[in-house]
Parts: sequence; C-alpha cells; structure tokens
Amino acid sequence: MQKKHLRIAILGYGTVGRATVDILQKRAQSIADKSGVYIEVVAVLLRTAKLDIAPSVQAIATCDRKAVLEDENIDCYVELIGGVDVAYSIVRELLSRGKFVVTANKAMLALHGEELWALARKNNTCIGVEASCCAGVPLIRAIADGLIANSIHAVYGIVNGTCNFILTKMEEKSISYKKALEISITQGIAEADPSLDVQGLDAAHKIAIMSSLAFSLKVSFSDIAVQGIDNIDQVDMRHAKELGYRFKLIAAAYKVKDGITIWVRPVLLIEDHPLAAVKDTFNAVSIFGDTNGHTLYYGRGAGGEPTASAVIGDIISIGIGNWQSLFEYSGQWQDLNTHRNQVPAGQTQHRYYLRMHVDDSHGVLAEIAAVFTNYSVSFATVLQKKVENQDTKQALLIIITHETLENNMKKVLSALENLSCVYDAKTMIPIFDLDEEKIASLK
Ligand code: HSE
Repeated sequence: MQKKHLRIAILGYGTVGRATVDILQKRAQSIADKSGVYIEVVAVLLRTAKLDIAPSVQAIATCDRKAVLEDENIDCYVELIGGVDVAYSIVRELLSRGKFVVTANKAMLALHGEELWALARKNNTCIGVEASCCAGVPLIRAIADGLIANSIHAVYGIVNGTCNFILTKMEEKSISYKKALEISITQGIAEADPSLDVQGLDAAHKIAIMSSLAFSLKVSFSDIAVQGIDNIDQVDMRHAKELGYRFKLIAAAYKVKDGITIWVRPVLLIEDHPLAAVKDTFNAVSIFGDTNGHTLYYGRGAGGEPTASAVIGDIISIGIGNWQSLFEYSGQWQDLNTHRNQVPAGQTQHRYYLRMHVDDSHGVLAEIAAVFTNYSVSFATVLQKKVENQDTKQALLIIITHETLENNMKKVLSALENLSCVYDAKTMIPIFDLDEEKIASLK
C-alpha cells in the first residue's frame, strides 16, 4: 500500500536517535503498510566516530556534517542532537534551504520557536514538533488539531518524568531529595547533570510550547515563573501526606482575569486529584476546552522509544502532507501569534500550606492570627505538633489557608518572620486545585 518514499537523515545518535533508527530499520515496511509512507534512513550524523554504532547503521553513519546537510537526495531531517546552539544553527540552515525538519528539541523551540517557524514559512516548509512535549503522548496534535473547536482555558500537568520519579521515591520510601536524586541517576533516569530537569526548566520549555499553541500566544519565556523541586523537604512531604496531599511538579498555563498565567512549580494536590495518581516517570496533562470540557493525556513522556514514536509520527505526517497543511492553515504558531498579558504568579490565587516553628506558650496563636487578619488571609486548617527530641518549648505549626493572592502570602510570611515567637516561617507551598468548575468561571 506504500504510496510515498521519504529519505531521511537522523542528526544525532543518542538514545532517541538510536531508537528511531532501530524502529525504522525493523518496521519501516509495516509502518508503510499502515500509513502509505515508506521511511528510508539514508544517513545518521554522528558527533564523533568513537560512538558505538549498531552493525546495521555502519554503512550510513558519518561525521561529515556538510555532506549530510547538503545532500539533495534527503527529503527530511530529524534533529536529535540536543542542546540549543548547534541544533539551532543546523535547523536554521536546513529550513533556509526549504528542507523538512522534525525535532524533539524543546529548549530550542521554547527559545527560538518564533524565528524558526517564520523561517520555515518563508521557505515553504515546516517543522514537526510533536516529540518536543512529553515524547509519545500526542499533545501537540491534540491542541493544534483534535481540540481545534475549543477555546482552551487551561493546560496543566506533570511534564517532567525525572522530577516525578524523584518525588514518587521521596514519598514512597520517605527519603530525602538528595537520596531520591541519587537513585534516579543510578537508574539512568536523571542525567549526570540533572539541573535542567530538577530546576524546572525542561518543564518550562514544554509549557512554553504548549501554551503558545493552546492560547495562540507569543510566549515570553523569561516571564514564566519557574521553580524546581530541589528545595523540597521530606518533612513537608510527610506532613502534606498526613493532611491528604501529594507533592507534584506542575507546569501550568491558564486564563486568569487579566490574561494568561504560565508557571512551573512544586504544588500540593489533594490525594484524589487525577494527577496525584501519576507516579514514577509517567507524564500526564489536563487540557480544558470550552466545548469539550476536560481531557487528560497520560503516558511515557521521555526515553528512546516513546520519543521515537512521536518522531516517526511526525515524519509520516510530513510524508502525507498533514504537517504542512496544519502549519499553513492554522493560525496558532508562534510566528503568527501576538503577545498577551502574561500574569505573574504573584497575582494568582491559591490555597497555601505553611510550616513554621513557634513558641509553645499562650497568646502565640493569637499573634499569628492577627498577622493573617491584617492581610485578609483566612485559616482553613491549623495543625500544631510537639517538636520531638528538643528541650526548647517550641511547637511545629502547619497552617492551610483559604484561597488568597500569592503576594498576600509573601507579606504574611515576612510579617511572621518579624514576630519574636515565630521561627523559620519560610515554607509556603501552593495547593493547586483548579477544577472544571473554576476553569469554566475563567471564560
Ligand atoms: N528529561 C526529561 C524528563 C525528558 O525527565 O521528562 C526530556 O524532556
């Protein structure tokens, strides 16, 4: 049933490059039988000849970048180099020559997407980007195509598998962040340098790409408030669990009164929230549209084969002309979008979890309550616990507030710090409970 033959080059032979070549060498014919497009890998560009190359790849592997990039017989290039600078320069060169490009490079798209889409448009070509957000979970297609009848109100979820794995292990094994990170490195889940993941930047790249499409928005990446998981204390995880909450690193973009807010941060989710059940390296994203209501996408958001699944889907889509049409007809791409007000996280409303130590004596709670009253913040739950193994007359105080502005909470914390009866009032974690009803009210 094959109707089209595409010759492709894979640029980069890391985990995703290897998985893509492997799948295509084994299954190109059965994929062609289903899709109508036969994909032939004609070149694999290596960073260094020292790499361990599969026997079936040796004849097509090369370090000659110029020869691969200028080969007129190659129809589509799959950029799997990673990092920003080299990939960006190669993709620009390819788009300038009107070549089709497929990429999984979220950092490059989040930082340079607007320019790259404009360059593709100018040269009558396009870039397949499904693999950039949560690998094989088809989020880009859902937003750009399947949900097109909706006005989207919110996109949020767990988009970083490494962070989710670390948080799951901290919770299940009652271990510190440091210990859970070590396990994730030993198991090959976290990179040797995990900073992009644990500091929230990888999640920020993904939410930048998704929100740009979902809201037809020119995203200002530097205006996304980003906080990672590297400061999460096991103590808070334990108390939150007792109170019926789970820690998750959430990337969110949703409508608020004066625009769109986009942020990445660790939050608490009530334990029966659908995302609270997402464990280990799995990703899950909720999308709320006005026509369709809530849809939830769940799956493996990282790794060689899941990413290769999205990459191959994009190559096929280019082969049958779908990506080109989507790019040509849809007005959602960064280069066509306009800036809208990106509302800072400080102006958003949440409930909050606070933890502090206080003198265990009369009148202390009244002093603390006066500070909350002063900033119109209302208590929902107050939990006082004995401080173990200490001679001091201190107690641990955990407060859950009703919904309030983050800026109010910051004022409350700084006023509490000035009370002589309060110690280390620094821990403030938002409780994220944007549900269908609240989202409907944001229209
Ligand atoms: N390192 C990412 C994760 C996958 O752990 O989800 C690539 O974005």
